[in-house]
Amino acid sequence: MSTPKEIVQNYIHGDYIDAIKKAYTWRNAKNSAPHLLPHLKPGLKILDVGCGPGSITADFVRAVGPTGKVVCVEINESILNEAKSNLIKWGVYEGNSIEFVVDNILFLDKFDDNEFDIVHVHQVIQHLKDPVKGLEAMKRVCKKNGIVSIRESIYEAFYCMPENYQAIKLWKELYLKININSGFNPNAGKFLKKWCREAGFDVNNTKKFNYNLGNWFFTQREDIKWWGLTWADRVVNSGFAKKLLEDKQLGVTENDLQYLSDGWKKWTDEEDALFIVDHGEVIYFK
Ligand SMILES: C[S@@+](CC[C@H](N)C(=O)[O-])C[C@H]1O[C@@H](n2cnc3c(N)ncnc32)[C@H](O)[C@@H]1O
Repeated sequence: MSTPKEIVQNYIHGDYIDAIKKAYTWRNAKNSAPHLLPHLKPGLKILDVGCGPGSITADFVRAVGPTGKVVCVEINESILNEAKSNLIKWGVYEGNSIEFVVDNILFLDKFDDNEFDIVHVHQVIQHLKDPVKGLEAMKRVCKKNGIVSIRESIYEAFYCMPENYQAIKLWKELYLKININSGFNPNAGKFLKKWCREAGFDVNNTKKFNYNLGNWFFTQREDIKWWGLTWADRVVNSGFAKKLLEDKQLGVTENDLQYLSDGWKKWTDEEDALFIVDHGEVIYFK
């Protein structure tokens, strides 16, 4: 079993450099937790597991208001501190009840059984070597009749226009391979029913288990620029780039990374550019 330090080191996107922070703080509850929106209301106690820089969490805090509580959990203490600074900077800290806890989703051992109304996770299960254990822990800390909310990507279902864009095809291939070589499942979103079943969720009860597909769409010029240029930066500057270079099985060179970066930049000027990221979304009533 990996130590927390090893988990942070093995995290596929590496250190939280500026390009990654910028990418993550674009996220909010509307674009990254749409399946959960109808269930958010004042007074609830929510656990946001693997909260990252906290931009989705900020919307949870706004939704539950001063009578509710949001607990942010991270394995990476430095990004947890940053989430706290962000919530202060975004004006959602004052007057609300928020707690920040370093913990591992595999255990959530700082929490009691049946503690939360909602236990939420976004794009964390896909970074686990033992996803079922993470889901078991989430279910354990969720109250009876509370909600376990999960949203994970299906990277094999990245859609790109124009079709057959060589640099992006290669980027997708490397993205899938580096995850698999590192022991993670890049298609976690489509495994959620299976893993939830293995974690003891009653997946055949339609009153309890709800599965849906949700997407990130990048279709408008401004969004395309943002997505493409963020990746143009990430493929050369981030820990993700370092991991690609280190993986001897892949044989990636710095020139290859530069080719990917230039490709992403060029893609943002394509007239028909469009990019879709599929996600599996689960709402489970415990
Ligand atoms: C892709 S980011 C998602 C962040 C946030 N949920 C969002 O969507 O903006 C994944 C986060 O999971 C955290 N993480 C990875 N393994 C973890 C673990 N075992 N326990 C808790 N958090 C973990 C990472 O530190 C990282 O911040």
